[in-house]
Amino acid sequence: LELKMNLEEIEKGGYDHFMLKEIYEQPRAILDTYRGRLRASQGLIKMAGIDQNLEKFMNANRIIIVACGTSWHAGLVAEYIFEDLARIPVEVEYASEFRYRNPVITDKDILIAISQSGETADTLAAIKLAKEKGAFVFGVCNVVGSSIARETDAGAYTHAGPEIGVASTKAFTTQITVLTLLALKLAKEKGVFSESRFHEFLTELETIPAKVEKVLESNALIEIIADVYKDSTNCLYLGRGYNFPVALEGALKLKEISYIHAEGYPAAEMKHGPIALIDDQMPVFVIATKKGHYEKVVSNIQEIKSRKGKIIAIVTEGDTQVTELADHVVEVPETLESLSPLLNTIPLQLLSYHIAVMRGCNVDQPRNLAKSVTVE
Ligand code: G6P
Repeated sequence: LELKMNLEEIEKGGYDHFMLKEIYEQPRAILDTYRGRLRASQGLIKMAGIDQNLEKFMNANRIIIVACGTSWHAGLVAEYIFEDLARIPVEVEYASEFRYRNPVITDKDILIAISQSGETADTLAAIKLAKEKGAFVFGVCNVVGSSIARETDAGAYTHAGPEIGVASTKAFTTQITVLTLLALKLAKEKGVFSESRFHEFLTELETIPAKVEKVLESNALIEIIADVYKDSTNCLYLGRGYNFPVALEGALKLKEISYIHAEGYPAAEMKHGPIALIDDQMPVFVIATKKGHYEKVVSNIQEIKSRKGKIIAIVTEGDTQVTELADHVVEVPETLESLSPLLNTIPLQLLSYHIAVMRGCNVDQPRNLAKSVTVE
């Protein structure tokens, strides 16, 4: 037992938990994901799984994304990325729903399956169904040689390295990175993107690891915020556009490891229900970074404030408007709206982590959850 304990300590590399280690590995993991693929100086993205099947992608009527859990949230971010950048229609489905609802799929469709483990039973079943119906199936997996990696027609690995914590962190940001590369490549090939816009994206993507590093420097501040809200029984997470899925993922992280009930909502939907929950006991985490509906989010924040809700906002460095309204803010560096989920997710991961630790929860192995779900 002692030997096992020591090995585990070594594997944790000085961190108290695998989850924290994996959160901190993200700058490196994101870099590993685009290293060798993104060649900003040459204005190129090279991805074998796409290069060899470019025709299929170019002729696709639509992309259907299937996944579960956190990977499904990465799929939702990808929906914004593909539609906004590459102008390809996308549908995102829970694999478990897709497989049982007689979906309309043809050989003009591309199915992208996203899975960290590559072993999720529902995702695997969705792949088999899509293949039977003639769709081309592309996998985005982390675990090399996994069942999903083998079952798909082609794919791209995330190269995040092993993820041990049950709550997914670096798998999520690296999945988004792979899907961004894919969308950028298709945008360029389809001629939707000018050379200069393509170049702007590539160079900005290269700054993301350093910007994630910068976000991680807010850890001590986030710990203080966690201490204020650790005894909450309910939390609301709000975001719009690209950051709506980030709100969903923030809420999921909190639920999974701290057992606090949390809901993610598109900020503008708040008025159709969740606003009824807001009182002075309700913390509301709002993603309010500068690009993308900022003014609209500011008015959502005013609505929360007038009902005495507690506001914790993720804002862009130098922000003043939201900062004046909010109870707490965490600043993140400025980036392109399409890349902002890669930064905005990080404080929410850290916040859930600290709250779970403070509540004495088993962070790496939360009750009732498994790292990979190989049964229905
Ligand atoms: C489980 C894990 C989640 C994960 C989901 C999908 O529920 O606890 O962290 O997001 O499965 O797993 P996958 O390996 O397919 O990404």
